[in-house]
Amino acid sequence: MQTAITLEALRKSVAKLRANGETIGLVPTMGALHEGHLTLVRRAREACDHVVASIFVNPTQFGPNEDLDAYPRQLAEDSAMLESEGCSLLWAPTVDAMYPDGFVTNISVSGVSEGFCGADRPGHFDGVATVVCKLFNQVQPDMAFFGEKDFQQLAVIRAMARDLDLTQPHVLSIIGVPTVREADGLAMSSRNRYLSEQHRTAAGTLPAEMKQAIANIEAGAAVPETLDKLKQSLIDAGFDSVDYAALADARSLALVETLAEKPARLLVAARIGGTRLIDNMAVG
Ligand code: PAF
Repeated sequence: MQTAITLEALRKSVAKLRANGETIGLVPTMGALHEGHLTLVRRAREACDHVVASIFVNPTQFGPNEDLDAYPRQLAEDSAMLESEGCSLLWAPTVDAMYPDGFVTNISVSGVSEGFCGADRPGHFDGVATVVCKLFNQVQPDMAFFGEKDFQQLAVIRAMARDLDLTQPHVLSIIGVPTVREADGLAMSSRNRYLSEQHRTAAGTLPAEMKQAIANIEAGAAVPETLDKLKQSLIDAGFDSVDYAALADARSLALVETLAEKPARLLVAARIGGTRLIDNMAVG
């Protein structure tokens, strides 16, 4: 596996990979890789001749009081994992390479980026959309793979790519890959490592409580009351607060109050011991 840290080196390596008309799958990450990321790499390998993974802790998607400095960085370990998964190329730019002096462009996706995490993390999805657009232009992949765990992020990226004509037929397909979970059901996340043992145990109740709420909604329980009960059960289980627990149209992310508008998605963000966890599941 080669590693590129400058745009020039990346372009040369990508051109070599493409020399015989071979296809490229891109797996964008911020590093601190876990089984969820490696599943994306495996999916990309199945679908494309080569996998290019990027590792870039993107400062523009972190708010002023968020964990940019504390975000885990382990390039050597991540690189070894990617190599053993058969990745062809690692793109690991510096902040200066990604945002050279004078960088002034911002991509802002309205609608899907506005509620949920967008409301709690102002500017977050602008940072995501801008860096992902740059990654698409830099690597020019045939397919790009993202985890469904960041369901709203995936919706924002799909909207950005559609609106900026990046996903014309046969140019770039965006593939959402189902969330990979720990044995107790907790969605894998690089931030799970922030949890103390006690908080990790309590965090494991999140997926079970979500499944219970989904079962109740599917059995006909009223949505607002069920969501209120879900929030309370998370607090009872040891969460400090719940940013949101909402039922939304899975495509537009507009809030829904009944299952008439299918497919629907239950989306939750909750905080425990200073860590913000998100999860989502299909409903109906
Ligand atoms: O999901 C992530 O790891 C990041 O938001 C992404 C898509 C790599 C953009 O920085």
